[in-house]
Amino acid sequence: MKMILLGAPGAGKGTQAERLCKVLNIPTISTGNILRAAVKNGTPTGKQAEAYMKAGKLVPDEVIIGIIHDRLDEDDCKNGYILDGFPRTIPQAEALDAALAESLEKAGIRFDDVISIEIPDEAIMERMSGRRVCEHCGASYHLVAVPPKVPGVCDSCGGKLIQRHDDEPETVKHRLEVYHKETEPLKDFYAERGLLRSVENQPSVEATTKAILNALGR
Ligand code: AP5
Repeated sequence: MKMILLGAPGAGKGTQAERLCKVLNIPTISTGNILRAAVKNGTPTGKQAEAYMKAGKLVPDEVIIGIIHDRLDEDDCKNGYILDGFPRTIPQAEALDAALAESLEKAGIRFDDVISIEIPDEAIMERMSGRRVCEHCGASYHLVAVPPKVPGVCDSCGGKLIQRHDDEPETVKHRLEVYHKETEPLKDFYAERGLLRSVENQPSVEATTKAILNALGR
């Protein structure tokens, strides 16, 4: 099974991808996480991406498409995957179509669903101020909705919880503008292909997972 999670910054894509990959037994590929690791490790890709990310802009398509090409070639993707944060522009979606036509369709992997998590911008602005992430493993928490067991400490690895640089209110505002202009048109792109399923954000993480699984017919 191959699945794309669409949604505004902070819609809950990463949170849901982590839960769904356990239920569906396929890996999650998050371009945001791959880029943050590259920035942290000071790789050439990380150096290229850092300024765009800090400013809440999209990293250029050619950089992202290269990353995805390499990642989809890895063995753990053979039975499918969940894409979180990719594609984010029409050229990225077209590149994905081309990559699939070349290789993965031959291996018999179906391209099943595109789930769009719907949530109003005002709710995002409020939610982002409470997000904390582990500086070591990247796990995501929320001070109220998804608190860690011990304040400031990651449940999974014991790492320190920090605020992401791009969660400053002004940067979030800009990321939302970029989302509406560059990424939201993908909803029509996939609706025309009969793949889009919209799921309303629910008051809890668990209820949103249930709504997504329901939309997937599981
Ligand atoms: P990326 O990391 O992909 O950021 P994003 O899409 O803006 O999404 P976020 O990670 O901010 O949010 P999310 O939807 O995963 O929400 P989360 O689950 O954390 O990308 C970062 C940057 O990298 C981009 O700005 C860009 O520069 C670059 N980039 C990445 N991919 C790219 C691409 N393809 N092309 C070009 N550039 C690219 O949830 C948010 C918070 O809400 C958490 O605190 C969570 O605990 C809480 N929460 C979640 N669900 C619920 C719920 N139902 N109820 C209450 N709280 C909830």
